Amino acid sequence: MCGIVGYIGNKSAVKPVLSGLKALEYRGYDSAGISFISKDKPLTIKQVGRVEALEEELAEQGTITANLAIGHTRWATHGSPSILNAHPHQNTDETIFVVHNGIIENYQVIRSRLQKFGYKFVSETDTEVIPHLIDYYLIEGVSQETQASGVQGTDEERKEAVPISTVTANRSSKRSNLGASAGRVLGSARKQAGTVSFLEAFEAALKDLVGAYAIGAVYAKEPGKIYVARLSSPLVIGVGVHENFLASDPTAIMEHTKKVIYLNDYEVAEISADDVKIHDIQKAIAVHREHEELDFDQEKAVLGDYPHFMLKEIFEAPQTIQSATRGRLRADTNTVKLGGLESVDQQLKYIDRIVIVACGTSYYAGLVGEYLIEELAGIPVEVQLASEFKYRNEPFSRSTALLAISQSGETADTIAAIKKVEGYGVLRLGIVNTVGSTIARMTDAGVYCHAGPEQSVASTKAFIAQVTVLAEIALHLSQGRTRLYKPLLQELLKLPEKAKEILEHTEEIEILAKKYSGYRDFLYLGRNYSYPCALEGALKLKEISYIHAEGFAAGEMKHGPLAMIDQDFPTFAIACKSPLLEKTLSNIEEIKARKGPVLVIATKGDKQIKKLISDVIYIPDTLEQLQPLLIAIVLQLFSYYVAVEKNLNVDRPRNLAKSVTVE
Ligand code: F6R
Repeated sequence: MCGIVGYIGNKSAVKPVLSGLKALEYRGYDSAGISFISKDKPLTIKQVGRVEALEEELAEQGTITANLAIGHTRWATHGSPSILNAHPHQNTDETIFVVHNGIIENYQVIRSRLQKFGYKFVSETDTEVIPHLIDYYLIEGVSQETQASGVQGTDEERKEAVPISTVTANRSSKRSNLGASAGRVLGSARKQAGTVSFLEAFEAALKDLVGAYAIGAVYAKEPGKIYVARLSSPLVIGVGVHENFLASDPTAIMEHTKKVIYLNDYEVAEISADDVKIHDIQKAIAVHREHEELDFDQEKAVLGDYPHFMLKEIFEAPQTIQSATRGRLRADTNTVKLGGLESVDQQLKYIDRIVIVACGTSYYAGLVGEYLIEELAGIPVEVQLASEFKYRNEPFSRSTALLAISQSGETADTIAAIKKVEGYGVLRLGIVNTVGSTIARMTDAGVYCHAGPEQSVASTKAFIAQVTVLAEIALHLSQGRTRLYKPLLQELLKLPEKAKEILEHTEEIEILAKKYSGYRDFLYLGRNYSYPCALEGALKLKEISYIHAEGFAAGEMKHGPLAMIDQDFPTFAIACKSPLLEKTLSNIEEIKARKGPVLVIATKGDKQIKKLISDVIYIPDTLEQLQPLLIAIVLQLFSYYVAVEKNLNVDRPRNLAKSVTVE
């Protein structure tokens, strides 16, 4: 989703901002723009499409001398991808420039109030209210009351505090005096127009906004500063030597600095070349925060010889399992050591219910985790879509643990789900890939995936890492009290080799992908541990090949899905070694009897299946509990080859973004 990059320092600003925007391309976007101040004059350039188009247009400007720039890649939410809707947005006088990631939920109210005061809007975006609102406060002054009391905590309270919506004056010009007819917030205790600093106007504007934001703002009259703010959207400040950076995530700036400061909700920072001043607008206090050192492996974000990041990331499965188990599982002593959970081990002993919250692929990994934790540790687990969980009214006690799973660590719904349990005394755990991300920082304890940056929009290696970590957590929680403990621990350590075996023979999968790429619909079937795999397989196919696909528990076939089956509706059945295999084979027979084409994933050595089905992909034999790790690789490759056959943009499927940072 939208990406923000900013630079202020003693070097040329445009280059690092452009390279940062390119590094954020993986998040998904449809337009890009940049504002910079050159020789005290602000300039904004925007383009629809790729950052390269923006770069070409900048090249036409000749040499640009600018020490400050803010850039943005936009993933359209309010209004189509167009130059007018692209960021940065500005006020009418072209002195205030704003880039924004998130959604301003009350933008309609603010917009119509500002319009009544004479403000003109040129875009359909929610973001455009921000520069105009700052302009408004710069011109009209800021209520001392609002400044002193600070912004209220909840969205409801902040809705109450929206000064613009409480103004009842009938104004003909935005510059006329609100005077006594102003609403209760714009009351008598106002800081007078002309005496308001940009920072004060910026903070006053922020207090009006309801929703989520990461904002970078520049004021042409203060060409040595970038103002930033954050609420429920990711933002990081990079600290350099006589230069500082701003970005949606560290990948955008890590070639320049590994020193970072993460902003928290309701914090505002004033960034200059040599200083970062942070202010908490909720508590109305200055905040001192030391930088952190990034621990990043930049190499992994490079495509190398692979045609697509997705293929590269699928091929990283063996290392991914290794990285997720390294230092955690010991074959000689049969021990599991999860350092990230040590601090809460005592609390974990009293946990009698685990609620897993996640979205998309991470949710499906969570479903595998449910089977694993319940079978190994005997603790009841529920897996909930974070987007549903956050609005549900359900009871939970202090003996419930919430486990959030997220690759990016920035998914808005998952963050909201964690926030929801704040104040209930619920233990908040995380399985996160991105080190230092919001979810990693807001949970009480957790286990990192260590899968390295995932660039392709479709999540592949992250699923592998999440399931591996979930198996480790299940082992840990079982405290060795299950007969499966030792075999599963030993087998997990053998899985990298088994994953390699699949990756050495992908031809069969490629041939079958070509054969089946012409169908419009697909059914994925599985039972027990293979059921979440069927759901994930269907998601992977639809998101990158745009083929309608649905995942079902095989036992559900007669309860509805069987009606869809005919010669044009193929089924991808997962029929690996399991006590329930015979039942899945019966389902396959039923589909065949209705002329439905079937392809199957089976366990190597299974002779029976070939008699039934000719299109079979074999995986190496492993414990049923760990089959999802191998099955997922086959399903990912199948979707990948189908999308390649259809000549689609595999790494950046239409309409999707990598980090879903808005609801
Ligand atoms: C699918 C996919 C998405 C993500 C989902 C959650 O391939 O990538 O469904 O899994 O958006 O993202 P994270 O794991 O970053 O919270």
